[in-house]
Amino acid sequence: MITTPMTDQEQILALRSELHQHNYNYYVKNAPTISDREFDEKMHLLMQLEEQHPELYDANSPSQRVGSDLNHEFTQVRHRYPMLSLANTYNRDDVQAFYDRVSQGLGGEPFDICCELKFDGLSISLIYEHGKLVRAVTRGDGEQGDDVTANVKTIRSIPLVLNGGDWPDNFEIRGEVLMPWQSFEELNRQREQAEEPLFANPRNAASGTLKSKNSAVVAQRKLDAYFYYLLGTELPTDNHYDNLQRVAAWGFKVSDAMRTVSTLEEVMDYIDYWDHERSHMPVATDGIVLKVNSIAQQQRLGYTAKTPRWAIAYKFQAERALTRLNEVTYQVGRTGAITPVANMEPVLLSGTIVKRASLHNEDYIRTLDLHVGDMVYVEKAGEIIPQVVGKAEGFASSSPVVAPSARAGVKEPRERSGKEEGSAPGEPVSFPKTCPECGATLVRYEGEAAHYCPNDACCPPQIKGRIEHFISRDAMNIDSLGPETVADYYERGLIHNVADLYELTVADITGGNASRERSAQRVVDGIAASRQVPFGRVLYALGIRFVGKVTAKAIARHFGSFDQLVSSSSDELLAVDGVGEVIAQSVKSYFSQPANMDIVNRLRNYGLQFENREVADSQTSKVLDGKSIVISGTFAHHSREEYKEIIEAHGGKNVSSISAKTSFVLAGDNMGPSKQEKARQLGISLVNESEFLAMLGESGGKAQPPTSETKEAQPTQLDLFDM
Ligand code: IVH
Repeated sequence: MITTPMTDQEQILALRSELHQHNYNYYVKNAPTISDREFDEKMHLLMQLEEQHPELYDANSPSQRVGSDLNHEFTQVRHRYPMLSLANTYNRDDVQAFYDRVSQGLGGEPFDICCELKFDGLSISLIYEHGKLVRAVTRGDGEQGDDVTANVKTIRSIPLVLNGGDWPDNFEIRGEVLMPWQSFEELNRQREQAEEPLFANPRNAASGTLKSKNSAVVAQRKLDAYFYYLLGTELPTDNHYDNLQRVAAWGFKVSDAMRTVSTLEEVMDYIDYWDHERSHMPVATDGIVLKVNSIAQQQRLGYTAKTPRWAIAYKFQAERALTRLNEVTYQVGRTGAITPVANMEPVLLSGTIVKRASLHNEDYIRTLDLHVGDMVYVEKAGEIIPQVVGKAEGFASSSPVVAPSARAGVKEPRERSGKEEGSAPGEPVSFPKTCPECGATLVRYEGEAAHYCPNDACCPPQIKGRIEHFISRDAMNIDSLGPETVADYYERGLIHNVADLYELTVADITGGNASRERSAQRVVDGIAASRQVPFGRVLYALGIRFVGKVTAKAIARHFGSFDQLVSSSSDELLAVDGVGEVIAQSVKSYFSQPANMDIVNRLRNYGLQFENREVADSQTSKVLDGKSIVISGTFAHHSREEYKEIIEAHGGKNVSSISAKTSFVLAGDNMGPSKQEKARQLGISLVNESEFLAMLGESGGKAQPPTSETKEAQPTQLDLFDM
């Protein structure tokens, strides 16, 4: 048979359709069929061909998902159907009242209720024409919202082109854009390292991200979206549940927690079940939505001015506790940022004792009008970082304050006079004018909420903070040193900056005390070994403001060497993935300071890596070919990011959640219990860090990747489950 080679146009069309399918398999179905590398190669080829054929541009090509660095303002778009909200309740009696109202409104005829999770993100409305996404609009004021199409296109689980052919030519679909817990935690970790303000919860992170003016940033942040409402003049079926099943077949992510029920009792069972089960969800949920299932019945019930009469949201109570504010202290970070910290009477919140919470900045304290001795409400924002969210107004010592979290067994703290421990009850919390550590006058830069201590050269916590950052695991990974040793060496005058570390000798450290010799040698060896740490991590270790580890790596990869980087223009810096004006300016400002360049030059002379080295052949192999590996927990030898790269360098694929197709889980410390349970249910092996490294031959071991035959015989698996 003679086959004619494909034309460029045919190849482009084939690649687009193939990549749409792979995106769907990966992001919606959670079941990829090709490796990341193959995907990237195909995408690369598509982008090359598209560049050669601008006449074949398609706004919905999978290549459009990478976003653009061009800043754009959002235009306002009027919603074709207003975006209504739902009547809310925290109360089961109201659910019963809703059920009775519906029954009455329908004249007593039978009806089904569709029960769904209430996703806690930000709502979005998408318009599809002829099977293609044409516009994405935020809720805005319900009447009109922002056109965020460019940003939404970067969300991989949102189909740009629909599957099948049974969709109406013109429809609107609504859903929730979310940042999964895992991405949220990773993002906050990066922000913490770069000393950027943390997002309080995934909703804020998702909303801040979707409204970013730079769609390339959105593309990196790994948003997800679930869909729950189809609108249009030609709906595929006469009921909501079946419509959403169709929607799922077209390529949208629809929650498989949806159920139709026909009694109030079943509704309550659903609420009970998900009140507990929601903690295992990969995304945040804050309640249950109940909808009359039949579209005809929905139409008969109609709307009030703001909400449909055919639906209601039952919201879960956020876990909250009431306690007393004893004192506010101020922490100085490595960049000099001052964080006010509430020190409170210890209180039980979602299973842990909380006694300290961030108060963010001066404006936050003012808005809450905090006084020492106030009774304050604490919530776990995103169930991770405790936050003071308000105070109990008019609290009198004898009045019995019942915190909403009383159901969680939180006990009221006893009233105190406030005289003890030097606190001054009743005094407004006033933000200091000078640095609590070094006395320098604090500054507040225009447009920033934080105060800074400008004395970076001499303020002790800033100096120690920079050294601690330098030695941290994701930076130089000098694990023979820790915060206490850094503080000790600093106070003894042995180190004043990161370059001083490389001049430390065993004699300096022991100070003549022979019993300290072994540990001193370990420190010196650890520091010497860090000379091999690759350039990207050295760049991150320098602690340039806003340069997190991902950005540092991208910069290192882009420029290849420190010299290239220093001599680059701002425009060249802006060409690096993830680098915007703020980062570019911060990098330039770092290099413009002679004290910084002095340290860099010293580090170079001590032999640290200031250019990329080729990856040695021994660092890659095909040992993990065809393996889908989930990484979970924390590790001693490499960061999670590094493990992702290591897996790929050895032919494997890193996947985010455990499924029947997972080959094994690379299990570090503190692996979440739900992941452990899921792995156990599916019979997926857990491989610990040293076994994994041995598999790659890093520590001389001869372990093989586990196969189904070796699965049962993994002792570490049991160790982990027994925890
Ligand atoms: S239905 C007219 N279903 O909750 C009904 N909304 O206060 C439209 N939400 O703005 C909404 N999960 O952002 C619906 N399963 C779900 C939902 C849900 C979250 C949000 C949505 C809406 C708000 C209602």
